[in-house]
Amino acid sequence: MSSNQAIGFFDSGWGGLSILLAAREALPSEDFYYIADCGYAPYGDQTHEYILDRARKITHFLLHVKKVKAVVIACNTATAEAAQTLREENPQNIIIGVEPAVKPATVQSVNHRIGVIATDRTIASTRYRQLLARYSQGCVVHSQGCSGLMECVENGELNSATTRQLLNKYLAPMRDDGVDTLVLGCTHYPFLSEAIRATMGYPVHLIQPGAAVSRHLKECLQEHKLLSDSTHHGFNRFYVSDLNEDRKEVAQRLYPCASLFEELPI
Ligand code: DGL
Repeated sequence: MSSNQAIGFFDSGWGGLSILLAAREALPSEDFYYIADCGYAPYGDQTHEYILDRARKITHFLLHVKKVKAVVIACNTATAEAAQTLREENPQNIIIGVEPAVKPATVQSVNHRIGVIATDRTIASTRYRQLLARYSQGCVVHSQGCSGLMECVENGELNSATTRQLLNKYLAPMRDDGVDTLVLGCTHYPFLSEAIRATMGYPVHLIQPGAAVSRHLKECLQEHKLLSDSTHHGFNRFYVSDLNEDRKEVAQRLYPCASLFEELPI
């Protein structure tokens, strides 16, 4: 493994770009591959076996074809369903995941009422139940699966009437209970921050994981002496299952310097 190898990110679609944006800021000279598994999305409505199968294939592609030095699972759903297995199967490799930030939310909430929005699969996962059991004592937690919301982001509908309607359905109980802190437990949702704030209608603290995941990635690379020493700006290359022009256009809205797209060959 050497410091001039790239870092690989993956998600079911463009949500993981919320992690990539923060990672680009923290690590300007690293090279990034980003896999958007759009042709197999949404993961949040799928079974454990399906998600694990896609996560394994993509991780294999990143580690053995693209020869990355670290894999970032830029998806809460794939982290909950596959991270442990991927780490067991690839013990030599750095594999970083992302999980709903329940602990920071309980620490930051003033009225001890928090909301967690994520995919149905994340909310139903054993890993999420463990997080709640460990960190949510003394707090009222509204856990809400938000089927259909990732599609709003994939379609570039960041603040449309359909998006606002869905958000209203999912957020109304939390709004009525006055939650002051909301965990964005799906990497797509930071792109809906404006619509989420408008739907809540009062100041609410939104917790998104990009900066924390990027800090953790940087620390892991430092620890393994794998931080790039290049003085150039790193590249961003995108592999997409079922690539088309609409998908490229949405990606470029969310990550303006995206330009190199290829079909994902798996
Ligand atoms: N962005 C993903 C997450 O963080 C999942 C979206 C989906 O495929 O359902 O969970």
